[in-house]
Amino acid sequence: MPTLYDLPSLYDAVVTPGPCEPFYRRLACSTGGPILELACGTGRLTIPLALDGHEVVGLDASYPMIRAARAKADKSRAKVEFVVGDMRRFDLGRSFSMVIVSCNSLAHLTANEDIVECLSRIARHLVPGGLLAFDVVNPNMRDLAQCGNTAERSNTKPDRSFVSGSKELIAYDPVQQVQILKWRFEELGRKIPPVALMRLRAFFPQEMPLRLALVGLELAARYGDFSGGHFTGCSPNQIYVARAARTSRISSLNAHAST
Ligand SMILES: C[S@@+](CC[C@H](N)C(=O)[O-])C[C@H]1O[C@@H](n2cnc3c(N)ncnc32)[C@H](O)[C@@H]1O
Repeated sequence: MPTLYDLPSLYDAVVTPGPCEPFYRRLACSTGGPILELACGTGRLTIPLALDGHEVVGLDASYPMIRAARAKADKSRAKVEFVVGDMRRFDLGRSFSMVIVSCNSLAHLTANEDIVECLSRIARHLVPGGLLAFDVVNPNMRDLAQCGNTAERSNTKPDRSFVSGSKELIAYDPVQQVQILKWRFEELGRKIPPVALMRLRAFFPQEMPLRLALVGLELAARYGDFSGGHFTGCSPNQIYVARAARTSRISSLNAHAST
């Protein structure tokens, strides 16, 4: 059975540009490039960042998503380097002013080791003082406790056909903090063949600052929505901006050695 990420045109039909785009674009203007977007999907954010004039690399584990991203970038004449890769294991051999992981994509890393591995690699790919910016969902305990709970998304495509997607919570494991979700799609009232179940990690608000500190990133800001609203227990999102140390570990070790 295909996953949602084997079907990029379905993904694009249901996951349309949202308020995260102006948020990350504004932040990118403050750092400049080069920018690395992990789990970039079909380039929903990567391409606008490149069109803003930044040097951008987009990495995603799904070949169909990257192929669709390349086609969209060519069509809009955006210059982006797209790479098929795993955000837990990448080594691009260069550093970036900013790394972005948008749209709750870190939640695909359901095991603790994977999250540690990914954040460590991000820290190693940042220039001194560089930024990591990402958003994850702010889990709602009431929703997680209700299997069968469903969230809907819909969109009218440019050809006027109507696509809708519903995401149902099948199970939640409160020990692993992992949700199992079933997506169902319809186009013009016709059911689209099912896609594989999706497993997503729920990150609770006290976890992320600790995880960032463990890889040497300093929390610079946490917002509750993409207009920069204060983070509260009821916020829909947890949006983090974290900074790498201004001196690299190697140069600060050298500085200590020479004193
Ligand atoms: C919710 S989509 C977000 C895509 C894009 N950031 C956006 O805003 O539209 C999640 C993306 O994460 C990618 N992904 C999942 N696990 C991954 C991994 N281990 N390494 C890299 N990409 C991964 C999927 O292929 C998918 O494109």
